[in-house]
Amino acid sequence: MNQPDLDWKNLTFSYTKTDYNVRCTYKDGKWGEIEVSDSEYVPLHIAATCLHYGQESFEGLKAYRGKDGKIRIFRMEENAKRFIRSAEGIKMQPMPVELFCEMVRKVVKLNERFIPPYGTGASLYIRPLEIGISARVGVKPADEYMVIMLVSPVGPYFKEGFKPTKVCMSREYDRVAPKGTGSIKIGGNYAASLVAGEKAHDLGYSVMLYIDPKEKKYLDECGAANFFGIKNNTYITPASESILPSITNKSLTQLAEDLGLKVERRQIPVEELDTFEEVSACGTAAVCSPIAEIHDLDNGKKYVFSTNNEAGPLTTKLYNTLTGIQFGEVEDTHGWCEILD
Ligand code: PLP
Ligand code: COI
Repeated sequence: MNQPDLDWKNLTFSYTKTDYNVRCTYKDGKWGEIEVSDSEYVPLHIAATCLHYGQESFEGLKAYRGKDGKIRIFRMEENAKRFIRSAEGIKMQPMPVELFCEMVRKVVKLNERFIPPYGTGASLYIRPLEIGISARVGVKPADEYMVIMLVSPVGPYFKEGFKPTKVCMSREYDRVAPKGTGSIKIGGNYAASLVAGEKAHDLGYSVMLYIDPKEKKYLDECGAANFFGIKNNTYITPASESILPSITNKSLTQLAEDLGLKVERRQIPVEELDTFEEVSACGTAAVCSPIAEIHDLDNGKKYVFSTNNEAGPLTTKLYNTLTGIQFGEVEDTHGWCEILD
């Protein structure tokens, strides 16, 4: 296996062309065979529902090269289940869990030489997506769908990696509506977040921390990542209908319990930020990204959590345990990783 000549240690979270992607089409009431493609393009009907009416959903998960040289995929059944919920949320055909997992295994094996070597901190990001491909002019769901899975070797999502980053918040921007599509992973949510995201970047922040869209009082989530705070030996993360249930957050919550922390999933009023000892963003891409400061753009208030450019002790412990499991350094007591033969 000849490894590509990539600067593994300095990878960013961006697209790198790999050897293959896999595709599967739903047609005439059934899913077809998994097809392997070396093309980066998809032929689409000009009236496909994904182009006009946003019938598109996606997932994000990772494969890791472990300390023992083995390939590990993290919690893929959880992504498969969320992929079903996302499809149902926009009237697309849900893909069965086992077919989803088969496609993931196949795309990883086919691109094995792109899995970053152990010790570089990088991983192989797997991006499944589903699109409606039938031609429609009226607003109606398609009856034909395509699932594509592509991969890309990636490094940290925020440029700081595991160093604390700065984020901002404002009541002027909502990513989703209160009873809207925030709890599923569809492209439309991300289109709706681009103005706020670019505003945050233009002002020098990594990301916009969203406040709940209904009451404008509680913390929701951090761009494409969940939020958690730690105080008094307690891991606290928002309960909200308008955030994506993060698999990383669910895992960190379990690890926090394992470490003897209390766990609270509840509404977090913005003012409570004053009382947290450590705060962080978490997600597949973000892993666990400590937050140094949060600036409230509406009133100029600054919440500061780190002044020495280091993550707090409990965030560090959680991060080391999670990534330790993913890279095969820490025992996987919850059975979260599937090892590929
Ligand atoms: N929230 C949003 C809006 C996301 O896009 C993501 C990324 O998938 C997350 C949270 C984190 O979820 P997960 O940990 O399952 O990747
Ligand atoms: C992920 O964490 O997998 C995400 O999907 C984030 C992303 C939108 C870049």
